[in-house]
Amino acid sequence: MDAQRVQVDYDQMADIYADDADRHPMNVSYERPAMLAMAGDVEGGRVLDVGCAAGALSEAFVARGASVVGIDVNARLVQRARERLGGRADFHVADISAAMPFLARAWFDVVSASLVLHYLADWAPALREFHRVLRADGSLLISTHHPIQDVEISEPPAPYFETTLLTDTWRKGGRDFEVRFYHRPLSAIVDALAEAGFLVERIPEPIPDPEAFADSPGLYEQMTRRPWFLFIRAVKKPATRQRDERS
Ligand SMILES: C[S@@+](CC[C@H](N)C(=O)[O-])C[C@H]1O[C@@H](n2cnc3c(N)ncnc32)[C@H](O)[C@@H]1O
Repeated sequence: MDAQRVQVDYDQMADIYADDADRHPMNVSYERPAMLAMAGDVEGGRVLDVGCAAGALSEAFVARGASVVGIDVNARLVQRARERLGGRADFHVADISAAMPFLARAWFDVVSASLVLHYLADWAPALREFHRVLRADGSLLISTHHPIQDVEISEPPAPYFETTLLTDTWRKGGRDFEVRFYHRPLSAIVDALAEAGFLVERIPEPIPDPEAFADSPGLYEQMTRRPWFLFIRAVKKPATRQRDERS
């Protein structure tokens, strides 16, 4: 159900979204650098990039020496990712809410979930799969809509303490697109991680680079006044590390 809705929302703008995400300072100079900073040194490591879209972040991981598997539910965006990487990474069209039996357990050093989890009503199935495919000392990196930001942009303001489906209008390529996503309070996010066997290690709050946003002073001002995205680095809880490594 979530996946179908996301396909409808992203099908209408797949190429426009992909081109925009390659240029927009929000992606290029804010979100992606924050994800890469959380990942640290990935040279020689294995990265699973879920919600990979057209593969911009996958490409950055490959450039840093990682072996990358990207997953997205949108076939057109996966095609774009394959064209971009030309065989330097492996891509699958799949719904991360469902089991992903094509991924081996305890295989990845990093699972990167960049701006994708807010499309899921329930994070539990996806987080269980991330836990299964991560090595014992692996890390889960998340960027998602910040719950405070959801309340700010919604009209009428979203009820902070409820998990609610919201609709936002994105202006891209001179057109407006309606995109639906879930708001959830911070406690629900941390609880979902804890229940799936993760410990939150860091919540970085990057400050945008003023030069990157020189053409968007209004946006820059808003982004320095309140958090825009929520970034989380989580690790497997020690007590659950063996669980997914049993054959
Ligand atoms: C905002 S984009 C992610 C941007 C991307 N991480 C980047 O670095 O450019 C969100 C992506 O999540 C994908 N997506 C949403 N729900 C999904 C699901 N259930 N399974 C797999 N992909 C999903 C969408 O198709 C879309 O490509």
